Amino acid sequence: MKDKIKNTKTLEDLQKLYSDTFGKNGTMTLQLKNMANLSNDERAAINAENSELRQLFKEKQNELELAALNAKLATEYVDVTLDNEPQNHGTLHPLTQSLKELSAILESFGFTLCTGPEIEDDWHNFTALNTPEYHPARDMQDTFFLKNGNVMRTQTSAIQIRAMEKIGAPIKIFAIGSTYRKELDATHSAMFGQMEGLYVDKNITMSDLVATLRNLLSRFFEREIEIRIRPSYFPFTEPSIEFDMKWDKGKWIELGGAGMVHPNVLRNCKINPDEYQGFAFGFGWDRMAMLKYGLNDIRAFYDGDVRWLKNSGF
Ligand code: DAH
Repeated sequence: MKDKIKNTKTLEDLQKLYSDTFGKNGTMTLQLKNMANLSNDERAAINAENSELRQLFKEKQNELELAALNAKLATEYVDVTLDNEPQNHGTLHPLTQSLKELSAILESFGFTLCTGPEIEDDWHNFTALNTPEYHPARDMQDTFFLKNGNVMRTQTSAIQIRAMEKIGAPIKIFAIGSTYRKELDATHSAMFGQMEGLYVDKNITMSDLVATLRNLLSRFFEREIEIRIRPSYFPFTEPSIEFDMKWDKGKWIELGGAGMVHPNVLRNCKINPDEYQGFAFGFGWDRMAMLKYGLNDIRAFYDGDVRWLKNSGF
């Protein structure tokens, strides 16, 4: 028996021998069953034989398994020196990349990301933002209206309202997302990306706003950015400004709008303007990505042309 085990060549043969020995009617099984009338010495001998055989089976099994593994390794191996087919790795879209960068910067300033729907109701997109029906400022944006009176959100400012309604004051949030307007040329796309910031607390001033914008831009463009603010008008801020940054050859580039949140907007969100005040800002983050990566046609961002994405260095 012991020799038989030792001479077994395959795992299947070993398996068979094992069941012949220890299976239901196996030779050892039967011996163990019929020990009752045997002397102590005879029992001890059978027990010893039992352990020894089990041990032998185990060793043989290990040996055969190892041999099988080695045989497999000898035939199935990866030759790491072989020339490989060039792999087409996907990359993050430039917009996704800049979105992540801007989010990381604002989060490091203590702003929390908030979201809202792209199909927005009149209240959040206009009325609560101090732009009631027939307000001339509604014409500042060419809106896509849906049949049920909702709109494709024209500005991420709608998310300010949703966030203040939900969280109240103090609040420090940003939002990032797609917005829609009926305009289309090389620097405008009917869908474009906007980013919005809102910070309402006690004693927030315009200089907090300017410092936040300057730091945000300097971090994003990875150098000191000089900014300029100009008086402007938005229904939801008072005073309102537009901000520009100094770019190559001293050229000023218009970036976005901002201001101190209008008391009516705070009231619309059940925040007491005598207690709290704050700033808000909004800009096109796809334009920021264009500037950072030196791209000149905003529509290419949304065409999904892989050749363009490759050539734009991503
Ligand atoms: N929503 C404005 C726009 O789309 C941009 C803007 C201006 C956002 C002033 C703001 C703000 O939060 O305070 O043109």
